[in-house]
Amino acid sequence: MKIICPHCSRGYTIPEERIRQYGLHVIFPCPSCKGNIEIRLNQHATPQSSPSPAPSQNRHSPSEESGIDLRKSIIAAVNDLPSMPQVAQHVRRLISDKNCTFSEIARAIETDQAIAARVLKIANSAYYGVMGTVTSIQHAAMILGIKTLNQILEIACSAAVLSKRLPGYGQESGVLWRHSLSVAACARAIAKRRNPNLIDDAFSAGLIHDCGKLVLDRYLAARADAFTKLLQEGKKVFEAERIVLGFDHASLAASICEKWDIPKQLVNAIQFHHSPSLIQINELVAIVHLANQIIHIDDMQSLQDITAIDLDPRSVKLIGIDLKLIALVRSEAEEYVNKTISSL
Ligand SMILES: [Fe+2]
Ligand SMILES: [Fe+2]
Repeated sequence: MKIICPHCSRGYTIPEERIRQYGLHVIFPCPSCKGNIEIRLNQHATPQSSPSPAPSQNRHSPSEESGIDLRKSIIAAVNDLPSMPQVAQHVRRLISDKNCTFSEIARAIETDQAIAARVLKIANSAYYGVMGTVTSIQHAAMILGIKTLNQILEIACSAAVLSKRLPGYGQESGVLWRHSLSVAACARAIAKRRNPNLIDDAFSAGLIHDCGKLVLDRYLAARADAFTKLLQEGKKVFEAERIVLGFDHASLAASICEKWDIPKQLVNAIQFHHSPSLIQINELVAIVHLANQIIHIDDMQSLQDITAIDLDPRSVKLIGIDLKLIALVRSEAEEYVNKTISSL
């Protein structure tokens, strides 16, 4: 197959079968000028390996689609995701009304008994310092405050959605959930020290920052060979997603957030958590990006220098983060996650 780089016009001949190993939509750097070359192959020419068919839709298998079809299919798959329970949206609306009362909030949460029971369990966990003494949702609202109760409600509502096993990413059930809760707690810990007005938004955005993975998982499972090979070659997860699917999980987040009724300022922080340099930076975007990177650090002990972590320089400057703060917010997040997860 003859390929011409659109940037430097150099021509290359590459066997089509070799390109197909990487999927139907492939982007790779030109060996000569390093500009991106994008190739979209015809979807029906050669059968692809298809390890796991789509669960229920009357659409093509996720492994057969490419280009515009694939993008449409992925966006449509957002509708297959479970909604955030109504109670979360109802309580968010109530809280935005300054005149709402503890009992109104409590009544709204109690309309969903399963969620209410989970909220009570979390409120009684070691972290909140009132272990075993919270007897009702109204009691929780009074002793913890409405904002903390709302954070607990968001945890209770998102736990089921984010606890799924993600075979496309090679993650067992609970792994994404633990990571999400860690990033939420870390973002909250940074906001607490740098801009307390952002504590609630930082926590909420951190909790669902990787929700795009819920949709992309089955498309990656259907392209497991190409995706795994890219990861083995050292590509980051979002880079490998872009090559194999033409999307990454963060860029898909806006569609999911719309379905979940998430406020716009949170959508930006979620959508750009891997690429904050692509938008006008603000503190919330920077905090969620930094929290995600901090939680991904493998070995805190041997960390000598902040430049060893892949952090967006503008975010570092805006928030004023250093190694001491990183160690502090990471251990605070770890403590929170351990206490919260053990209560569920
Ligand atoms: Fe991510
Ligand atoms: Fe993440």
